Amino acid sequence: MKSMAAYNGREIPKEDKVFAASGAALEAVEKYGPEKVINATVGALYDDSGELIVLKSVERIMKSLPAKSYAAYAPIAGTPAFKNAIAKAAFGGYEPKSYVAVVGTPGGTGAIRNAIANYSQPGDKILTHSWHWAPYKSISGELYRGIERFEMFDEAGNFNIEDFEYKVKKLTRNQEHLVIILNTPANNPTGYSLSMDDWYGVKRVLDDIPEEKKIALVLDVAYIDFAGEPEKVREFLPVVDNLRSNILPVIAYSASKTFTLYGARCAAMICLAYSPEVAEEFVKVNSFSARATWSNSPRAPQEVIERIYADEKLLAEVEGERAKDRDMLLARGRAFEKAASECGLEIVPFSAGFFVTVPCKEPDALCEKLKEKNVFLIPLDRGVRVSVASSSEEKCRRLPAIIKETMAEFGM
Ligand SMILES: Cc1ncc(COP(=O)(O)O)c(C=O)c1O
Repeated sequence: MKSMAAYNGREIPKEDKVFAASGAALEAVEKYGPEKVINATVGALYDDSGELIVLKSVERIMKSLPAKSYAAYAPIAGTPAFKNAIAKAAFGGYEPKSYVAVVGTPGGTGAIRNAIANYSQPGDKILTHSWHWAPYKSISGELYRGIERFEMFDEAGNFNIEDFEYKVKKLTRNQEHLVIILNTPANNPTGYSLSMDDWYGVKRVLDDIPEEKKIALVLDVAYIDFAGEPEKVREFLPVVDNLRSNILPVIAYSASKTFTLYGARCAAMICLAYSPEVAEEFVKVNSFSARATWSNSPRAPQEVIERIYADEKLLAEVEGERAKDRDMLLARGRAFEKAASECGLEIVPFSAGFFVTVPCKEPDALCEKLKEKNVFLIPLDRGVRVSVASSSEEKCRRLPAIIKETMAEFGM
């Protein structure tokens, strides 16, 4: 017997490309030493010597938790103090006008999963941009939904509001529900952040949708706290806080990057509902889904975040530490961008964040060739992803010329 599994229409590759590439990079580091290898595969922030950055303040609080803080179950939707704290973290200084409700999830992944499960129907298409985080498709597939992509950029390199509008209209013609996922600021894999003009365009398109259609606008803000100044990167909030009653904005806010709690699995889905009934229903349906998939989320990271927001001094310490790491990351991104422009390497429009993308025709072949030079990147469908989060500024400065030269060897 060759197979026991029921594939149910899913295409399941032999191995995950990201994990395969980072595995190969780690082997090379072991063999040749960290200085000889550029491992730009990782989706987590590393320091210049190749160590995972963990906020010291977060580590200290985590280690001080009494046993019952991690051993006891948390309520299905999260502890009340966590829900308050994570909403404060997500909104920063902004005070929403809409009805806010919060459901804790194990990572932003859980928030995206629940939003798709509860705001679309089996057989529906989920709309996202052409450059997107690969799990959107696999999560949709697991839930018997498909993906429709709008071209993220037009020929001039601007956010492609025309294609967004075309795809929204096309899908709402046949679907009663539509989940739209926008990953901004600091999109994975491009690093692009929607401008305020882009946001006004999104609002104009959504305002035009017939009222009987139900839209969930999922904002995957996984990288928001590394995308720039906290107030600046939240400037779009008043726009999504002012949409019509048939649009439900859902913010997928993850503690993975913001609090360096990647493996602790902590996040929240936060809605900005038009009415208290819709907010209440949001808690009901998403708690039900949580119970039926992972049940409750880990309690320990919820207590860590609770404690941070209960103590002003501690919050200032966490924010101070994060600001230093963010500035280091922003400097790496700028160094890569500058070096790319100096050597004539084209990149997909970039603003900030963990990743930069280089568009190219044969991403897999290019990554294989780069491996021979001990440079490890992630091949995508139409380009290669470079993690500036896991490469020092000095390596970010060197990388564009190496990529450019390797592309030239291919005649690209
Ligand atoms: C775009 C994007 N969204 C969401 C996530 C979710 O991460 P987590 O489930 O660890 O919060 C990631 C993580 O890499 C991501 O890159």
